[in-house]
Amino acid sequence: MAGPDELTPCTFVYKADPVRGEEWRQLFAELAPQIDFRIWPDVGDPAQVRYLAAWLPPDDLHAYAGLEVLFSVGAGIDQFDLEALPARLPLVRMVEPGIVGGMVEYVTLAALSIHREWQAYAAQQRAEVWRALRVRPASSRRVGVLGLGVLPRAVLAQLGSLGFPCAAWSRSQHDVDGVDCYAGAAALPGFLSRCDILVCLLPLTDDTRGILNRELFRQLPQGAALVHVGRGGHLVQDDLLAALDEGRLAQAVLDVCEPEPLPPGHALWRHPRVMLTPHIASMTQPASAVRAVLANLRRHQAGQPLEGLVERQRGY
Ligand code: GLV
Repeated sequence: MAGPDELTPCTFVYKADPVRGEEWRQLFAELAPQIDFRIWPDVGDPAQVRYLAAWLPPDDLHAYAGLEVLFSVGAGIDQFDLEALPARLPLVRMVEPGIVGGMVEYVTLAALSIHREWQAYAAQQRAEVWRALRVRPASSRRVGVLGLGVLPRAVLAQLGSLGFPCAAWSRSQHDVDGVDCYAGAAALPGFLSRCDILVCLLPLTDDTRGILNRELFRQLPQGAALVHVGRGGHLVQDDLLAALDEGRLAQAVLDVCEPEPLPPGHALWRHPRVMLTPHIASMTQPASAVRAVLANLRRHQAGQPLEGLVERQRGY
């Protein structure tokens, strides 16, 4: 692998959380000092910027006439208006071990807390009830993951190692060791019918918006649980509340909602069988993200394919 000193001097702009930006600055200074690293809005002459890493692009993106690659600082890219980005500009989602590790932790925590009835025991404790519920083996709790990209595969490997029978559903057919793979719309009902715990890790696209709806919940086994770590736009929140109240779903762990933050007084805040976290399932970790970005800059400068390149047609 080429060393960082083989990168040519150029300007790189970071436009996201400024606190983590300072960590990026230190890492760039250490690992690629020849790069002029800048934190937006201190971009200098925008026409000189060759690379931009952003959660959202600047309003004057057209002024970045020499921009060669736009990196998302997050795993998702649905926050970008793809129509508004120049068609020639490569857009790259963040693929880095820190995000993967965080997501594996969160989904494992959620799956185990569902599996081991954590919510029921929390309610029992509040009511000072000492009552054992039957402990089921992991082998009797079937987990299914919607999506089969880098994050779903890492999550499935961990859940599989804990003994959960694992399946995944994706748009196109894949083979993954130890995972029952389902593909395409026609296979969705069969997949759903074997998901005691359904995990949503899909990208948000026109095809997947609103996919977690009444019709989908109806196809899950009675008393299934949902772990939603995709995007708020995947979920029809009123349908989830209805499915919980009808007992179709036993519980939901949600890391995302729409809008974010959830408005005060919303029913999801207080639902006794909903665990809600503020979009923290995973976060880009500067130490590993900067190394992943530098590896991509080396690929780019060597004319090699970029890791995480978004296919515009597909929308992820
Ligand atoms: C967070 O949601 C991300 O896209 O990394």
